Amino acid sequence: MREMPDDLATFARDLPKAELHLHIEGTLEPELMFDLARRNGVSLPFASVDEVRRAYVFSDLQSFLDIYYAGCRVLIQEQDFYDLAWAYLARAATQGVRHAEIFFDPQTHIDRGVPFEAVVTGIHRALQEGRTRLDITSGLILCFLRHLSAEAAMQTLNEALPYRDWILAVGLDSSEVGYPPAKFKDVYDRAREVGLLAVAHAGEEGPPSYIWEALDLLHARRIDHGVRCMEDERLMERLVEEQIPLTVCPLSNVRLRVFPDLRSHPLKQLLDRGLLVTVNSDDPAYFGGYVGDNLQEVASALDLSREQVIALARNSFIASFISEEQKRRYLDELDRFAAQPSLKTIS
Ligand code: ADE
Ligand code: ZN
Repeated sequence: MREMPDDLATFARDLPKAELHLHIEGTLEPELMFDLARRNGVSLPFASVDEVRRAYVFSDLQSFLDIYYAGCRVLIQEQDFYDLAWAYLARAATQGVRHAEIFFDPQTHIDRGVPFEAVVTGIHRALQEGRTRLDITSGLILCFLRHLSAEAAMQTLNEALPYRDWILAVGLDSSEVGYPPAKFKDVYDRAREVGLLAVAHAGEEGPPSYIWEALDLLHARRIDHGVRCMEDERLMERLVEEQIPLTVCPLSNVRLRVFPDLRSHPLKQLLDRGLLVTVNSDDPAYFGGYVGDNLQEVASALDLSREQVIALARNSFIASFISEEQKRRYLDELDRFAAQPSLKTIS
């Protein structure tokens, strides 16, 4: 891999940015996993933090999800969800994150008997503190697990309605192939009726037809991953024409073997074609890097220019669900950051 100058690497990490594809359960670092296991009397199949990290070798999405859902067993009390979300925000603040739209998977918890209220209240409390103590704005995206039934998704949406004001959007995640977006049309219709926005994972391992369905049936405003759009020229034209954002996760794609290495990642091609792509971390505790690390590593591997790095950070705000006024403020902040005399000559 080409060595990137230290200053451009640091610039990419520190640049003001939004994170739009982040599973809060995927930020559970092994150290916190052990602390929570001890606190809640949950036994783990690992003897040490190092052993956990050594187990994080994945062959595909499903092999990761099996470990990810097992890790979630330590999350039981409202305080656990608070601690998880606060730890993420504190780290994100060190990597230039100014705004985060965060996925959570309530079914992973309520199906183990954890009340929905404990999950959502803990996360919400941390997000509020993130606003006051770290100056990070945020929103919550409730994800339905696509390997479970459409009825279970509808039931989960109904459980969420008392907390409607704390939730920004709905999403769709978990095992993709064999679980097309069409299955969740009714629950997405209902979610939009109550004013929630829509996003969906599609085209990570699944075919381009899943991206079409997410757009046409679920009315998704962003596509999470979406990298398999490259296989369908008509879809590429539509994504460019309508400027539909893709929330791309380079380190995740390599760890889950969607692409063999970062140098083979199509991010630069997507950017050059005029797609509204953003860089995100997905499940940073499992994939070896937070959002700033993703931007830094992909910039280095693909030899991105300073302008392309800035364009990716701009896209992250443009693709977010914040108000136009707040968007303007963040974009101005980004411009001011990039214009600092000591950083202007970085290439
Ligand atoms: N849940 C957590 N991470 C995921 C991913 N990358 N794809 C689908 N579901 C997920
Ligand atoms: Zn994801």
